[in-house]
Amino acid sequence: METKKKSGFTGSIGFVLAAAGSAVGVGNIWRFPYLAARDGGGLFLLIYLILVLTFGFTLLTTDIALGRKTGKNAWQAFSSINEKWGFIGKLTFLVPVLIMTYYSVIGGWVLKYATVYVTGKGNSAAEDTFFTSFITSKVSPIVFMLIFLVVTAFVVYKGIEEGVERFSKIVMPGLLIMVVGIAIYSLTLSYTDAEGTTRTGLQGLSVYLIPDFEGLTFSKLMGIVLDAMSQLFFSLSVSMGIMITYGSYVKKEVNLSKSIAQIEWFDTGVAFLAGIMIIPAIYVFTGIDGMASGPSLMFVSLPKVFSSMGMAGNIIGIVFFVMILFAALTSCVSIMETLVANCTQIFNISRKKMSIIIGVFSVVTAMIICKGYNVFYFEYELPNGSTGQLLDIMDYISNSFLMPLISFLTSIFVGWIIKPKWIIEEMETGNAKFTKKKLYAFMIRYVVPLIMAILFLQSTGLLNKIIG
Ligand code: PHE
Repeated sequence: METKKKSGFTGSIGFVLAAAGSAVGVGNIWRFPYLAARDGGGLFLLIYLILVLTFGFTLLTTDIALGRKTGKNAWQAFSSINEKWGFIGKLTFLVPVLIMTYYSVIGGWVLKYATVYVTGKGNSAAEDTFFTSFITSKVSPIVFMLIFLVVTAFVVYKGIEEGVERFSKIVMPGLLIMVVGIAIYSLTLSYTDAEGTTRTGLQGLSVYLIPDFEGLTFSKLMGIVLDAMSQLFFSLSVSMGIMITYGSYVKKEVNLSKSIAQIEWFDTGVAFLAGIMIIPAIYVFTGIDGMASGPSLMFVSLPKVFSSMGMAGNIIGIVFFVMILFAALTSCVSIMETLVANCTQIFNISRKKMSIIIGVFSVVTAMIICKGYNVFYFEYELPNGSTGQLLDIMDYISNSFLMPLISFLTSIFVGWIIKPKWIIEEMETGNAKFTKKKLYAFMIRYVVPLIMAILFLQSTGLLNKIIG
């Protein structure tokens, strides 16, 4: 009997690089270093590492094993195990839908900056108004977003082996070399400012690595843990169905424990190196107060730092933005792949047709997000107190609200309904060793549900109401 060959990753390297490609994204570069700088340097690093090895490990294992065992995408994976709990799959599917609307917009911004540096105009990017006037302009952000989306859709259109895997195998090693290169360069920097103070890259490194316990209180410590936790979700691309989809493409011979550990280390390693790359550079030229959060770190502060570097700055600028472009592309590919994979299963349409349909959907929604900075501009106060536009609202709903909720529900489902053994069996397929099974079972049953419930309440603003 002839069986139809299911397309998937050729082996464990392809899988690890594609999953790492999803995990390593703008979050590693614009968010991690900023949080580390703000949250006590080495203290944040230590907390983050502990969370990766406990929560990160548990959630990543759950997603990937769910995908491989069922061979399905989030939409159907949960309902194929238990009809009543199928709603978690539908909820999970919502996350990539929401993230897709804005991720390509940010990808377009990165592409714009890469183009500016490649064409030797890096100094103009260092001007105060450059970023704002770019994102509020009517046409340019849409054009760059479109180019970014076409490349993403093309990779997805080509399929898993020919597209996603091959692309990740080229891009991810390149990205790693670039991060290491700039990190080393950053450590060699030294600058004397107008007042005659000299700051060096190595001093900057110590700001990053040495734990700062000054003024540390319990509530501050909890704040750091919460920051690290939400960063971890976003960074590992867990609880959004992406790793379920990628898991469904993994062959049974692949040792999942090993691959999962490699993905965790790749993602955490790049985030750590991004800190070595960015914190000393900012420290040397502007002092640590110049460390901004979010997009303005990447698009406003760093171009200023590059321009202070003189000639070398333009070259570093090119390498830096090309590197982020790689990181953003592989992440966006994973989001679109998840949407396409889910929809082909739901509607029974071919991958190629679905890639085009999802491509068009993504263009339309991304255009609306781009317009959020001009035609549809408004300011909205989010439950966490910050104000945001369309893009920030999408980001808030998907990352701060849905992700803890989904992790909470998934951990109840796995820990108490189907029981951890269901996952452990998959991890031990083909006599593979799953040495951390006790840790896994404990985390998924007790720790994850408790902490996710707290995170969820916090994101809705309810926690503050409850504890006054
Ligand atoms: N994990 C990616 C990052 O760190 C972001 C991402 C989110 C990727 C959602 C895919 C899906 O930036």
